[in-house]
Amino acid sequence: SKNKEVTVTFVKANGERIKAKGEIGNSILDIVVNNDLELDGYGACEGTLTCSTCHLIFSKDVFDKLPDKPTEEEIDMLDLAQERGPTSRLGCQIIMTEELDGIEIRVPATINDARQA
Ligand code: FES
Repeated sequence: SKNKEVTVTFVKANGERIKAKGEIGNSILDIVVNNDLELDGYGACEGTLTCSTCHLIFSKDVFDKLPDKPTEEEIDMLDLAQERGPTSRLGCQIIMTEELDGIEIRVPATINDARQA
């Protein structure tokens, strides 16, 4: 059976808003890939925690609802992301829950591939 559908809205640095559908259990990276969204360079390492290109910035409200705390590996990668803030996370590590349905997510202007650093 199909998982329940959820919607997220990506807000790009230029103000463009991209609404996309996914399912509970998808990562945010899955949603970007499955919808073939135009986020240049996003998710370069395919979720293997070696690139930081999937960096996203959440509102404090949403950040507090994210289901899992970041692992050491995620924090190490976040340290390499541009524009990193206190509510930054890596999209490949965020798994959609029912509570996250309808959230807005800010995509930083600079996507930094740590593998090229
Ligand atoms: Fe590379 Fe998330 S896709 S760290």
